[in-house]
Amino acid sequence: MAKSNGKKINIAVFISGRGSNLRSLIKKYKAKYSPITIKLVISSNPNAKGLMYARQSKIKSYVTNFKKNNTTEKKLLKKLSDSNIDLICLAGFMKILSKNFIKQFNNPILNIHPSLLPKYKGLNTHKRVIKKKEKYSGATVHLVSEKLDSGRIVLQKKIKISKYENEKTLEKKILKVEHVLYPKAIKKLLINL
Ligand code: GRF
Repeated sequence: MAKSNGKKINIAVFISGRGSNLRSLIKKYKAKYSPITIKLVISSNPNAKGLMYARQSKIKSYVTNFKKNNTTEKKLLKKLSDSNIDLICLAGFMKILSKNFIKQFNNPILNIHPSLLPKYKGLNTHKRVIKKKEKYSGATVHLVSEKLDSGRIVLQKKIKISKYENEKTLEKKILKVEHVLYPKAIKKLLINL
């Protein structure tokens, strides 16, 4: 799955908080012989717990006061191109990327969302799913487009919601699924590029 020039595929992971998906991706790709490497972590929040995982693994990180304006976007795009980033993975990144940013980056951008998209786009997913008494939920990895949680679906995993499920237990259950799903989706995307 390496690039045609034999070089590694460089990923930048964008976070805003806890970073459990980042942690699982770091673990997945840490081996020296891995064809994929996490080269950069971008955080919209200086206090994101996920930044600790980057530090522990000596991955370059960069905190950006993410605003949809030309200067911040340009700076960020420069960082990404300086690090030869081939793929961005959003993992709990709480900002919306502009149409211009997506176009200028010119490489795929993935996002992970804790629902069976196109159902339950946006925030407070688990709360809404429980309230609606859904029987199933899940996680989705999709390509990022200008519309929130709406790009082409790469991979999705469905889980059953038990009778006694609450917001917290559902979140925990789905996070576990996400940690397996994200690397699988990355592999699927890269193979099909
Ligand atoms: C995950 O549930 C992800 O699907 C959503 O935000 C959460 C991030 O969790 N977009 P973490 O920061 O990776 O622990």
